This record gives sequence, C-alpha cells and structure tokens, in this order.
Amino acid sequence: MFETLKPAPGDKILALIAAYREDTRPDKIDLGVGVYRDDKGATPVLRAVKEAEKRLWIEQDSKAYLGLLGDVGFNEAMVGLLFGATTVTERVRAVQAPGGSGALRILGELIARANKDATVWLSDPTWPNHGPVMINAGLKTKTYPYFDAASASVRFDAMVEALKQAGPGDVVLLHGCCHNPTGANLTIDQWQVLADLAVERGFLPFIDIAYQGFGDGLEEDAAGLRLMAGRVPEMLVAASCSKNFGLYRDRVGCAMLMGASAEQANASLSQLTSVTRGSYSMPPDHGAAAVRMILTDPALKAAWCKELDEMRNRMLSLRQGLADALRRGSNSDKYDFVAEHRGMFSLMGTTSDQVRRLREEFGIYMVDDGRINIAGLPEDRVEYFAKALLKVCGD
Ligand code: LMR
Repeated sequence: MFETLKPAPGDKILALIAAYREDTRPDKIDLGVGVYRDDKGATPVLRAVKEAEKRLWIEQDSKAYLGLLGDVGFNEAMVGLLFGATTVTERVRAVQAPGGSGALRILGELIARANKDATVWLSDPTWPNHGPVMINAGLKTKTYPYFDAASASVRFDAMVEALKQAGPGDVVLLHGCCHNPTGANLTIDQWQVLADLAVERGFLPFIDIAYQGFGDGLEEDAAGLRLMAGRVPEMLVAASCSKNFGLYRDRVGCAMLMGASAEQANASLSQLTSVTRGSYSMPPDHGAAAVRMILTDPALKAAWCKELDEMRNRMLSLRQGLADALRRGSNSDKYDFVAEHRGMFSLMGTTSDQVRRLREEFGIYMVDDGRINIAGLPEDRVEYFAKALLKVCGD
C-alpha cells in the first residue's frame, strides 16, 4: 500500500531544530523555533512547574481515566486566566487539549460539524501550521492582509476592508497577542473595530492565544480577547501552555467555545468531546494537572507570575538592545520596530537568501521568512547578530 506515498514536505520551522543541533560551530545562535531561552541558551523547566510536579508525584494516587474533558479543574482555571472575571463565562465551555495545536484542530473539526462549507480566514502572514491544521479539519481557508513589511506594522485598513467580505459561515482566526510571525499586534481600539465588524457581518471570531504573558502581561495580553467576548454572541479560543508554562513537550492546551446561550454551549461541548472521542479520545494528563495546581494555589501562582515576568522582561530588554544596536549600526530608524513589537517574534525583512547567508556564514539560525525568536539571542551576542544582519542586508 505505501508504495503510493511520496515523501511529504517537512515543516520549515521544525527542520531548523535538527539543522541547528547538527551544526558543530560552538558560537552558533538559534533564533528559529519558538521556544523561550534564558541568557545561557537553556529552556529550563519553570520552578513553579517543578514544584507542582513534585506535589503531583506525592499527591496523585491514580492514573485512571479522567474522561473526555480532561482535567476539569484545569479547564476552569484556564477559562479564568483567559476570560477574567466576567459573566460571559456562563456561556463558555472548555476541553483540555493536546497543546494549542490540538485545541486548534478539534475546534476546527467542531466548525466543520456545524458548517461543512465554513471558510477560515487567516492573517497574511500567519503561523505556517494554521493552514494545514484547518484544512485537515475539513475547512477551506482564505487570507486577510495583516502586515505591511515596509513599515513593519499592521495593515489595519486593508484587513478591515477584506473582512467586510466575511459573513455568517466564515470564521476569522485572530492571534490573541504576540502575533506569530510578525510581532506586530492589534491595539485595543482595533480589537473594538473588529468586534463591531464581527457583530455587523456575523462572522465567528476564533482566537489563537499561545503567548499570553509574553507581550505586555497576563491581563494586558488577554484584553483583546476579553473585549471580543463581551461583544460577540459566539467565539472560539485555542490556548496553549507551551510557552507561558514552558510545557512544550508535555502538550498542554485548552479548547474553549462561547455559545450564544448556555444550552447552545452545552450542545457544542458535547459535539467537541465527540470529536476528541473519535480521534485521540482523551488528552494527556500530566502537564495540565501541573498547570491546574499552579493556577489554583495562590503561592504557586504568584511564583509562576514572577517567572513569567522574568521571561517577558528579558525579551523586552533584548528587543530594546537589538533595536539600539541596529540603529547604531545602520545609522537609521529602520529597525526601531524591533523594540515596538511584542512577544517572541519579529519579521526582520530579510530574504531567504539573506537568511541562508546568516546561517552559513555566521551560524545564525532563523526561519526562511525572516522571522527571529528574540528569546534565542544571548545578551552578549546582540551586537554580533546586529552586525551580521546589517552586513547581509547591505544596510
Ligand atoms: C513556532 O512558531 O516556532 C512554534 O509555535 C513551534 C511550532 O510548532 O511551530
């Protein structure tokens, strides 16, 4: 049977992990995959997570199935983390999912069950896996303009103009914060315009939020999502704990849906668990149990928030340092956007050829489209990276 299969193209971001690992140059720099690194280049297990895991090891007395929802306490805590204290949560239902990608996929399948002809609008550009996940869920995709490379900012007027074409039966996938790959984010006023447009046009907002706390803070990064939730009748949210809890390989995510009424939310939830039952059945427990422990224990939560602040502040200071170095080196304000962007990523405006030169000549790994993961930059290599970038770009 398998003789019919041709090799599938690899994922460009994940391919960088292996390429970087195989590079023997000691001074190589990994600005590729979206994984947080400390100044030593390590991605340690968060202290709060270690503590929760320790308690879990002592307290957990069974590995029996939890059920299709996963850890219900985790789901509740995640709804609180994302939606804040608001009555809309009476219409929100949540299912623990295997990572943010798993949440995206099962919500995509839920959309397909509700409307097999639905189209999901994706930002141009977006995380390269958004398209495949939605298409594999049985949906069609379209794009809306998002990023202006010349000014490294959001093309908001063009985005709104395009989304005026969307209507009922359309789903608009938005990045909750820390846009991947651009780093250029919507202002709260722009979220307001989009919420009004969603109500007027009748499209369904679907928010992918994988970096809450990496931009301006836990509350600040959820402000757009909360504004949207307060305005629209229905909404979907895919949340990830990979980055803000550092639980990448444990695959911890949460799929949330807000229905127009509690009854509709309940019916949709039963469809969502039927999707998971027909796929992987139940999500893996361990990481979500640790997150539940952290979010429901005030001391552990405070410790986690402190670690999250440390990660965010490191990224903000690297952004400023890199923008300053690029300003000095280029004698221009061309790269000032690096300090204004938020989250792990920025698109540096490099061509794939320039990215290849950075890799081959300078040992610097970044995604082909010019995306850097700012957290991968050691503080004492900022100047080196700035000089290499300006050299290959001729600036
Ligand atoms: C990234 O964008 O680098 C991360 O979200 C990792 C991934 O799965 O692509």
